[in-house]
Amino acid sequence: MIVQDEINRENVSKMVKMFYAKVIRDEEIGYFFTNILGDNLQNEKWQEHLEILTNFWLSMMGHSREYNGNPFMPHTALKGLSRDKFSRWLEIFHKVVSRVFNEKIANEFKDRSSMVATNFMRNLGV
Ligand code: HEM
Repeated sequence: MIVQDEINRENVSKMVKMFYAKVIRDEEIGYFFTNILGDNLQNEKWQEHLEILTNFWLSMMGHSREYNGNPFMPHTALKGLSRDKFSRWLEIFHKVVSRVFNEKIANEFKDRSSMVATNFMRNLGV
């Protein structure tokens, strides 16, 4: 895949799909997602989630205002979240953004994801 130099809907959507394709096959954190959304990214729930997450990341990077949810809320219902699980989430996310985007853009995604993960962990008390 060619490394992308631009943040736009198409590229972010590609990154989001690549990320969750890896996540649902992951032994450490895959089950959090498959328990709720199933294991087929083509199903309706996943299609909806992928769209929400594309909007979320476009908004996070200042390229859209379409995300108007509460990103933290769904995580309060997940049992067994720990610092190790967040580390694994970040490890996969950082690997994927580096494959999809150039170094400068990938670093922005990494910084923001790490900041959000830190906030989530603090709010969850883990
Ligand atoms: C181990 C860490 C994590 C796990 C297991 C996890 C799991 C999940 C699950 C299962 C959902 C769907 C919940 C539902 O639809 O009911 C969800 C939603 C979401 N997650 Fe995570 N998550 C993690 C970390 C993160 C991080 C670090 C971010 C941001 C950088 C993030 C951003 C989001 C967003 C934006 C949503 C959608 C919220 C909405 O519906 O508006 N998650 N997460």
